[in-house]
Amino acid sequence: MGPGRTAAESRLKAALIMSGIAQPLCRLDELEEGRARGFDPLAQGRDSVFALRHRNQVRVYRNRCPHLDVRLEYRKDRFLSADGQLIVCYAHGAQFLPATGECIYGPCLGQTLEALPSCERDGWLLVQMPEGLPLPG
Ligand code: FES
Repeated sequence: MGPGRTAAESRLKAALIMSGIAQPLCRLDELEEGRARGFDPLAQGRDSVFALRHRNQVRVYRNRCPHLDVRLEYRKDRFLSADGQLIVCYAHGAQFLPATGECIYGPCLGQTLEALPSCERDGWLLVQMPEGLPLPG
């Protein structure tokens, strides 16, 4: 990546943040099929949201298990099962569908992860963060 592109990306990100409309998470081409990534858009020192690409659809969820209000991953960016087909909460093994966030196995069966509105702009994945909601530590 050359310095010109870096400067342009920085200006775009700054403009989007200043607009208050959405927070940029990453470039869409940095999100691989069957992989998830955690992000800290509020600079809290922990990944409060995560994004994944499943069957070429990008989804963004709040990083909070509906069972006990804790983060899901067991280490950085490890939100998915080994085959990349399910979201897993590593506290008690709950499994969630990537497309909807619905729990299909575990103590929060039938509950769902909180999906966050997201969109694409100029190749960036943007997320609209909920306001006034506590985020898990
Ligand atoms: S905290 Fe997620 S399954 Fe228990």
